[in-house]
Amino acid sequence: MAQLWQNAAAVRRGTVESVTAPEPTGAGVRLRPEIAALPPYRQGRPAPADGFKLSSNENPFDPLPSVVEAISTSAKQVNRYPDASALPLREALAARFGVSADEVLVGAGSVSLLAQFIVAAAAPGDEVVYSWRSFEAYPGLVAVAGATSVTVPNQPDHRHDLEAMAAAITDRTRVAIVCSPNNPTGTIVTAAEFDAFMAAVPADLLVLLDEAYIEFVRDEASVDGRSLIGRYPNLVVLRTFSKAYGLAGLRVGYAIGPVGILDAARSTAIPLGVTAASTAGALASLEPAAEAELLERVEAITVRRGRLYEALLAQGWPVPEPHGNFVWLPTGAATAEVADRLFEAGLVTRAFPPEGIRISIGEEESGDILLRILGELVPALQEQLPS
Ligand SMILES: Cc1ncc(COP(=O)(O)O)c(C=O)c1O
Repeated sequence: MAQLWQNAAAVRRGTVESVTAPEPTGAGVRLRPEIAALPPYRQGRPAPADGFKLSSNENPFDPLPSVVEAISTSAKQVNRYPDASALPLREALAARFGVSADEVLVGAGSVSLLAQFIVAAAAPGDEVVYSWRSFEAYPGLVAVAGATSVTVPNQPDHRHDLEAMAAAITDRTRVAIVCSPNNPTGTIVTAAEFDAFMAAVPADLLVLLDEAYIEFVRDEASVDGRSLIGRYPNLVVLRTFSKAYGLAGLRVGYAIGPVGILDAARSTAIPLGVTAASTAGALASLEPAAEAELLERVEAITVRRGRLYEALLAQGWPVPEPHGNFVWLPTGAATAEVADRLFEAGLVTRAFPPEGIRISIGEEESGDILLRILGELVPALQEQLPS
């Protein structure tokens, strides 16, 4: 209990580092101050010509020819608006999850869906609870809704502290986001932890379970939204075609949950955000032969991940066990220095100074370069690394 209290005391209401930012300018135009204060979007460094982009948790494999063909075929009808509700894709997903098509919502990437649900539930004065560090889009999405972020620090082992998250919920909280595997730390929430969390939070609180990386999970203790469908009237599960299915550039994700909540999120969507090409590519990826090949690639990535994890531990890096298609390197004060060294060697990674670096599992060769550079760096850094 004392532990829970301490953790709850660490909860932060208001901003996180990534939203405390420059003075609002707006060139004399009256903007919402909390929006003007958001850090402007800056694209990460591009990979050098013969380098590797390991900064966005993308799938390193080229798209399948059948998927490219489906996208090209859809191009012949770009003079027409797409089917606004993406019905064929919703039906295909509904069949595999054993729900009705109305219990599936398709969006322009799961980040769009996150925005839709947050806006549907949280307004100015309301709070949204999530762990930190987690997906870097959460603070901005909450700010855009005009709501307040309440961030709960991850535990020292980089996992969500669900007890402290439950303790952070007040009568102002409208949404809680659980991210498993967590971006960027790669840790999972167990099924037992998640059930305890759901039992602890009010039944009228919207819980979003963000499972963008679920297909990479091999730990049987992990929460799996599929087994929770229909169990909680306040739970929505979010998934995406961007990662395991390699369609990040198409922008298509989906939510599964109770119709009433999904209808509210349908109302907050920008109409026609999901294009015909997106649904065609996603449907082609669900064809049995295509999906089998895609899931083999996912398996190959998890094997690469396992090898990299073991090698990093052997080098002495305090890496948490990775469950997504990326690893988290807690580099602490040395974060910028390590990221720069990796960049010089042709590896573009995502640095979060002064905490650590997120590195996507990419092409086989990128892992060899990574281990070579990190192996050179670790002796000199041993003192500075968090334990
Ligand atoms: C945890 C998490 N959720 C959601 C997303 C959004 O993915 P997309 O909008 O491409 O579906 C990402 C992307 O990096 C992510 O890491």
